[in-house]
Amino acid sequence: MSKEKLIIFDTTLRDGEQSPGAAMTAPEKLRIAKALERLKVDVIEAGFPASSDGDFAAVQSIARTIKDSVICGLARANAFDINRAGEALKDAGQSRIHTFIATSPLHMREKLQMEPDQVVEQAIQSIKLARNHTDNVEFSPEDAGRSELDFLCRIVEAAIKAGATTINIPDTVGYNLPNQYGNTIKQLIERVPNSANAIFSTHCHDDLGLAVANSLAGVMNGARQIECSINGLGERAGNASLEEVVMAVKTRHDLMPCYVDLDTTQLMNCSKLVSSITGFAVQPNKAIVGANAFAHESGIHQDGVLKARETYEIMRAEDVGLVSNKLVLGKLSGRSAFKNRLEELNISLDSVEELNQAFRRFKDLADKKSEIFDEDIQALVSNFIEEENTSEKIKLVSIKACSETGETPEAKVTLSIDGEEKTAVAQGGGAVDAAFKAIEDMISSDANLQLYSVSNVTEGTDSLGEVAVRLEKSGRIVNGQGADTDIIIASAKAYVNALNKLLNPGDKVHPQVFEGV
Ligand code: KIV
Ligand code: ZN
Repeated sequence: MSKEKLIIFDTTLRDGEQSPGAAMTAPEKLRIAKALERLKVDVIEAGFPASSDGDFAAVQSIARTIKDSVICGLARANAFDINRAGEALKDAGQSRIHTFIATSPLHMREKLQMEPDQVVEQAIQSIKLARNHTDNVEFSPEDAGRSELDFLCRIVEAAIKAGATTINIPDTVGYNLPNQYGNTIKQLIERVPNSANAIFSTHCHDDLGLAVANSLAGVMNGARQIECSINGLGERAGNASLEEVVMAVKTRHDLMPCYVDLDTTQLMNCSKLVSSITGFAVQPNKAIVGANAFAHESGIHQDGVLKARETYEIMRAEDVGLVSNKLVLGKLSGRSAFKNRLEELNISLDSVEELNQAFRRFKDLADKKSEIFDEDIQALVSNFIEEENTSEKIKLVSIKACSETGETPEAKVTLSIDGEEKTAVAQGGGAVDAAFKAIEDMISSDANLQLYSVSNVTEGTDSLGEVAVRLEKSGRIVNGQGADTDIIIASAKAYVNALNKLLNPGDKVHPQVFEGV
């Protein structure tokens, strides 16, 4: 029997962005969307256009740019949201509107304060309205995991009749167990008379660590779409992790009723990109994309893998795009070697001018660090694109920091602010603290520092340090990144990068600030 295709619906840019602190600017969302398109994701949920003008613009620019994936926008089941989503998506090659309304007794009574009949009617009207914008409409009964099966059957039947082509079953609060969730999908497909006219989809949250298991149970029982996100990013404990469901379906194709059609060699790139943009580090033991996912520490394992890889490895590292600590370039490497390596790493720059600028940065790095690894190139280019995409009101001109035992650390920072240079000196608990204080003396942003983290890109003390800084002001959250072999400089770059985003009024509001979702 030939297998059916499993649709991979990525919601990193929508549910993922609802993670506390995982704010992304419109250019960052577009960068991730391009990476998802290279991964050959079937559907990209680009955002929630009604939530803010910024998110509307982000969805619109993704819809106008991405050609190979369906672009989806989320909308509550009301006319305003649906028309906003339709408008944002109107230039997409292939578009989908995803509309939802809660169906659990608790949500209908407490949150919506609506009778079940009214909920069904609102779902029907919303789906009909969405069909005026696109013939690809998805409906989600929110909190389906805690809804009554009879009511779910009723609303799903009505939704399909009204024109929904995908029925998504969210376990919104991550409450279900795999057999329970799988059974819900099975019952719906069996009991809803017109179920054959729609594709059933899973949307599982990870509150009990069961999101991937529940999604796969859904597939075993007839679902043909999984909603998931890179690194499992999402509300609270997150969503089903895309890399885990995809590699589970691929690796255990012997037991799976369907197949996935993604370029899995892009998984590592996508994971790194999302982690660096959001400032959410990937835990080392994370399945598929964690730093240790393919590392064998014990002698017995190393010996086995050297004799026959399959003794301890069920997947090939290359299949998920893992390129490990390979010495590729050095000080004497030329522009074409650099360009070739970018191509091998699937990194694309938009113009020759960008390539030239990235190459200049590579040369600067090679002056400081004799051995340049793939990871260095990835971090360097990621940082470069980040700066290119941020409208730079503030630029870091120079920084000098002093740390001495028994003395108070001090930093002298020169910034260019709207083209005018200013210098400040400040003291702090450490050199980084002093640098941030000096910057604040000049900018007075009044922002709260929510996250400061440093990670080394490769091993060794001459490694590039990647710094993530998260700032919050009046509900707006931004993430800044900076990389340098000197972590004080990397920190100052990350802080300035975050400030530029914070001071850019065009940037979007974090979706969590939007009331009523
Ligand atoms: O978790 C959820 O219920 C959602 C819906 C909007 C699909 O994210
Ligand atoms: Zn969700």
